Parts: sequence; C-alpha cells; structure tokens
Amino acid sequence: MESNVLVIDDQPSILESMNVFFQQRGWMVYTSLKGLKGLAMARKLKPDLVILDIKLPDIDGLVVLEKIKKEIPQTQVIIITAYQDMENTIASIKMGAFEFIHKPIDIHEMDAALYKLSKISGKGVDVKNQQIQGKRFNYDMSYIVGKSMAMKEVFKKIALVTDSRVTVLIQGESGTGKELIAKAIHFQGIYKKQPFIVMDCSTLVDTLAESELFGYEKGAFTGADSTFVGRLEKAGDGTIFFDEIGEMPLQTQSKLLRFLHEKEFVRVGSTKVIRSNARILAATNRELDTMMSQKSFREDLFHRLSVMTIHVPPLRDRKSDIPLLADYLIKKISAQTHMQVKSFDSDMLTHIFSRYDWPGNVRQLENTLTRAVLMAKSSLLTEEDLYAALGKISEKKQKSELFKPLCEVEKDYIIKVLDAFDWHFGKTCRILGITRPTLRSKLKKYNIGSKR
Ligand SMILES: Nc1ncnc2c1ncn2[C@@H]1O[C@H](COP(=O)(O)OP(=O)(O)OP(=O)(O)O)[C@@H](O)[C@H]1O
Ligand SMILES: [Mg+2]
Repeated sequence: MESNVLVIDDQPSILESMNVFFQQRGWMVYTSLKGLKGLAMARKLKPDLVILDIKLPDIDGLVVLEKIKKEIPQTQVIIITAYQDMENTIASIKMGAFEFIHKPIDIHEMDAALYKLSKISGKGVDVKNQQIQGKRFNYDMSYIVGKSMAMKEVFKKIALVTDSRVTVLIQGESGTGKELIAKAIHFQGIYKKQPFIVMDCSTLVDTLAESELFGYEKGAFTGADSTFVGRLEKAGDGTIFFDEIGEMPLQTQSKLLRFLHEKEFVRVGSTKVIRSNARILAATNRELDTMMSQKSFREDLFHRLSVMTIHVPPLRDRKSDIPLLADYLIKKISAQTHMQVKSFDSDMLTHIFSRYDWPGNVRQLENTLTRAVLMAKSSLLTEEDLYAALGKISEKKQKSELFKPLCEVEKDYIIKVLDAFDWHFGKTCRILGITRPTLRSKLKKYNIGSKR
C-alpha cells in the first residue's frame, strides 16, 4: 500500500518542495497551510507521516504534535524548526516526535529521516531511496573503519545527526573510538567550518569550571587581568564536545544543566547575556546508570544529553573488523613513523589477533601494531613480530621449546640418570641398558665431564 504524508507548514514554498520530494519517492502527499485544518486532516486521513512546522499562525505546533501523538499514535511526526527553537525541538522529541529537521530543509536529511522511519515501521523507503542513502552516507566514512553490523549501526546514527544540532551522548569502553565519532559528527556535517572545541571534563575542578566554560571579565576576581573567553563561547556555532562527561564534578553538572536549559550564559563578572547555538556532544566510558543510582551523575542532565545516544561496541564484540582495522592502522602507523610500509599476511594476523579480547579496544590494537612495526626486522610483519608485540610467546617458539633434537634429549637424560645415581657408572649402565664402553663413548660425544 502507498504511504501517505501530510505536510503542515505556513510557507507555500515548503509545501511545494515537500510535495515534489515525496511524490518522487512514491508517496501520496497532502498539505495544509494552517495548523487547525492540518489537525483535522490528520484525524481523518491517519497518515503514516506528518511533517509539522512548529511555528504556525493559528496554533502552536507543539499542541498539534501533542494531539496527533495522543489521538493517532501510529502516525509518525517529523518536526521542522528553525535553529533558535532548540528548546521546542527538545520538547517535541520528548513529546514523541520521531525526528526533527532544521530549516532550510536539506533533502538528504529528510531522506535520512525516512530511512530511519523505514527501520522502525517498514514504511516509506523504496530501493531507490536506499541507493540515495548509500551514496551519501558512505559506510566506511573514510577514517572510521569498520564493516561489522554493529559499526554500520553506529555509522547510520552518525549520518542521521551530522546535519542537525541534536545533542548526542556517545557511550563505550575506553579506546573504542568515541572521540573519533564525535569528530565525525562535526566534520561530516554542514557546520564543519565552525569550531570544534573539546572540553575534557576530567580536568575540571568545581571552583574553576564556571570560568572555563563561560569565561570571565577582566577584574571579575583577583588575578583576572584580562577578559577570558570560555569554551562555550569559543564553540560559537560549532560543536562543544564534553569528553569524559562522567568525570564532571556535581556542581559543574548543575551549571551545565542550567545552560542546556536556557541556551544562554554570562561570563563570570559580567551581566551581558550571551546566547549560544553550539551543538553539544558528550562521551563517557563510565556506566552512567550506576552513577545515577549512586547520585554521582545527575539524572536530569543525562536526559538532556541523551536526546540521541550512540553505543560504540567493544572490539571483542566485532572481531570481524580486526583485518580492516589492522590494514588501516598499519598504513597510518607507517606514515606516522616514516617506517617502510609493512606488509603482512592478513589471515595470519586475523588468526592470531582474533583470539584476544582487546580490553583496551582499538587503541590497544593500534599500540600493539605500532610496537610490531617498530620492532619488525624487515618490511614484512612476521608471526614472531606480532607475538612479540603482544608480549606473548609464539606457538612456533612454544613448540620449539617443548621439542628438541634427539641427541639433546639423550644427553639430558644421561645426565639426569647419572645425577640420580650419584654418578655410579654401573647403576647408570643398568638403568640405561647399555655397556660401560658405550656410556664412555657417549660421555665423550656429548662432552659430559665428571661429576658436576
Ligand atoms: N573505527 C576506528 N577506525 C579507525 N581508528 C579507530 C577506530 N576506533 C578507534 N580508532 C583509533 O583508536 C584510538 C582510540 O580512539 P578514541 O580516542 O576515539 O577512543 P575513545 O573511545 O575516546 O577512548 P577513551 O575512552 O580512552 O578516551 C585513536 O587513535 C583512534 O584513531
Ligand atoms: Mg576519548
């Protein structure tokens, strides 16, 4: 059955462009310039999807959303908003809007939303659209490597948020690539030319956090010799990435929460209100659930930050990524260390590396390979190099230590028996089943001296 969409917006140009967009994708399109009329149409049509502008002339878009979600819960709603409406946008997501898209509408973003919709409802995306998807959201993202299902899910999520300003919480064990993902979200998006500012929360101390985040005016306190621009202000229309958010002191968490709520701040010692449009990203390797139950992380802050969450799986759960990662990392390491590009037998490497759990994840893999590249004796990485970098003894070596040539076994055994019988030749010959001349010749052959 054909999918149908109702577009409610007071701008005729948006209705026109959405009409073309959806018709091209095989949808039945209905439109309304007014909120109340749109609501009445939605009640009658029960469309699969409503595209809803938040600012409508006759009624608040959020009220329309609320009624649709209550009366026709199976209808999905995509909100279209202006950047300044972040508060409303968050509210709309909380009220059950499926996605929001900023004006001017980017058709790729709309395609991404439809793709997401198809995932949850099976509606609305045909093969043609998936091709559009594949082209735009290049799955290897050129520098975040991975082809496992788990990483593809991560890439899709990145693609869905790059061009919006939605707040994203990235969770995953240490070394899984959280920072890399934060950068991808920023640098693959339409705001890539704007600043990307990192705030390492583990370095924040309560007393200085406010200055660090919001900045201060000259003379605000003793020692404030000049005006200091805080990280949020530096981020401008770009991104501020709160790394290790789980380490943020509690007092600072409240300050950040207030900012997230109001989207504005004042420098310490100033009264001038500065509005911020910066996109917020946060990452942590801590279990925030546990921290919240222990009251060391604020639950309300968690909800503000996790409008969208990305869970980066540990490497042990996606070992199929190891060959690809190794190939990419060895090239990267060779370039960084100016070492001759090493070649390696991919099957051999996969065989060896897949047996480890990699508690330090991709970072540990990268470090191990760096050691291997630096220690390798030739431009070919051997099994020995890989084992040595892992700090393990290779199987070959283990075996060679276990098994020795026959002559050595004989020599060791003769010594063992001689020692056991206090170098009594008669007893030793009886045990070994040989004559005295034979024993003497063997002592000579193996250069075994008299009693040691
Ligand atoms: N999928 C990937 N493809 C290529 N390189 C990766 C990938 N994941 C991680 N790396 C590399 O591994 C190292 C660790 O990644 P990153 O610093 O992003 O991890 P993290 O999750 O932030 O770790 P931590 O919690 O310890 O801060 C980096 O050098 C990064 O480039
Ligand atoms: Mg990190």
